[in-house]
Amino acid sequence: MSYEKGVPEPLGVCLKHEKNTVLGTVGCFWTDKKAKGMELAYAISEEYWGKGFAVESANAMIRYCFNELGVERLQARCKKENKASSRVMQKLGMKYEGTLRSAVFHRGRFWDMEYYAILRSEFSR
Ligand SMILES: CC(C)(COP(=O)(O)OP(=O)(O)OC[C@H]1O[C@@H](n2cnc3c(N)ncnc32)[C@H](O)[C@@H]1OP(=O)(O)O)[C@@H](O)C(=O)NCCC(=O)NCCS
Repeated sequence: MSYEKGVPEPLGVCLKHEKNTVLGTVGCFWTDKKAKGMELAYAISEEYWGKGFAVESANAMIRYCFNELGVERLQARCKKENKASSRVMQKLGMKYEGTLRSAVFHRGRFWDMEYYAILRSEFSR
């Protein structure tokens, strides 16, 4: 359904030489189509953590969104405690924009959410 509308949400992440194994997902969805704003999300299977797969796959997704979908602003967010995810956003060249307090209810409690974003003008092809 999303693919039919040209929304890359989500795509499977696989190894170049082993395309039958999906080791994670990466995707983007529109937050505000008029303002050309999208949000990025990613997850990698635990046995593959720490090998650069999140950064590599999210980088490819960001490039696609800016080059093919005409995105102006691409944001991502994570729980404040999720240091691996905020590090991924930093490595993607995204800038920290602030923390929304108690913005998500998950697993029986509220969580503060850190927001990061990269703009078209900051993106190097
Ligand atoms: C967050 C996640 C996608 C990272 O995937 P990954 O493939 O391991 O990420 P990468 O290897 O590309 O990069 C991880 C970076 O975070 C760092 N990192 C990992 N754990 C960390 C921690 N506890 N504190 C600080 N940095 C940490 C790594 O050292 C690496 O940075 P470096 O290259 O500078 O050393 C993965 O842990 C995951 O799927 N977690 C569960 C789902 C999730 O949290 N998704 C994001 C929701 S917002």
